[in-house]
Amino acid sequence: MPGVEPTNGLRRVAATRYVTPFREGGSLPGLVEADDLGMYVLKFRGAGQGVKALVAEVVVGELARRLGFRVPELVLVDLDPELGRSEPDQEVQELLKASGGWNLGLDYLPGSFDYNPVVREPSADLAARLLWLDALTLNVDRSWRNPNTLLWHRELWLIDHGASLYFHHSWRPERFPAAGYRFDAADHLMMPFAGPLAEVDAELAARVTPELVREVLALVPDAWLAADEAFGTPEAVRDAYERFFAARLAGPRTWVDELEAARAARV
Ligand SMILES: Nc1ncnc2c1ncn2[C@@H]1O[C@H](COP(=O)(O)OP(=O)(O)OP(=O)(O)O)[C@@H](O)[C@H]1O
Ligand SMILES: [Mg+2]
Repeated sequence: MPGVEPTNGLRRVAATRYVTPFREGGSLPGLVEADDLGMYVLKFRGAGQGVKALVAEVVVGELARRLGFRVPELVLVDLDPELGRSEPDQEVQELLKASGGWNLGLDYLPGSFDYNPVVREPSADLAARLLWLDALTLNVDRSWRNPNTLLWHRELWLIDHGASLYFHHSWRPERFPAAGYRFDAADHLMMPFAGPLAEVDAELAARVTPELVREVLALVPDAWLAADEAFGTPEAVRDAYERFFAARLAGPRTWVDELEAARAARV
């Protein structure tokens, strides 16, 4: 499939320097330098949002990449809490202390800034694709106020998928997410720009095969999945995510019909 790179898991690096916190982020991500001399935005395992936010970042970020969206490279970052010794902020100190070991890193895009679709209008096709992706994954975090989309080298880059798949915060084998979950797109960044969804839906739904979903789930470290006590083993948790995607993609996709109705009403 075009655009899919062979992978044997996320690349691993070790943090060598804690540079500075990102004050805009609710989870207080930090900028770090790593032993490959790259700079990464570190999303901490010990942040209030918990490890499931990192699972969602990997699953949805890597799915988006495979559907042709630009997403900064995701890496696993080994963190020594001692790195933050000289950081004066108590909150940052606590975060580092709670996050020793593996965390998630995003390749840092220097000089990027928040994407504003009014200044630079997206194509109707790209807008529809992004709307569809966020509706599939129940990502409520791509609004006008909080676009979580960066403009870098004149292209759109997607970040911050930690709030998607939110049902996983309360699921159990006997309380499984409904495939037809409605997605409230009223405030979505791309709502005013998206073209008709039917074609995009047919193409993208066909591309999200069970194999692709498994490939993406395989990138999530076992230890992060094992933290989900509802299902027992990492494999059982991966199965649960697979079942969610299979159910959500099985026709008829009422969530797409509802999304299209909302979109058409806006035009
Ligand atoms: N890869 C990156 N390159 C450059 N800047 C980034 C990158 N990732 C994040 N940022 C910057 O850091 C900010 C916070 O990141 P992010 O949105 O992922 O954190 P968060 O804590 O989940 O935020 P939120 O408050 O939206 O929940 C972003 O709004 C953006 O300005
Ligand atoms: Mg954000």
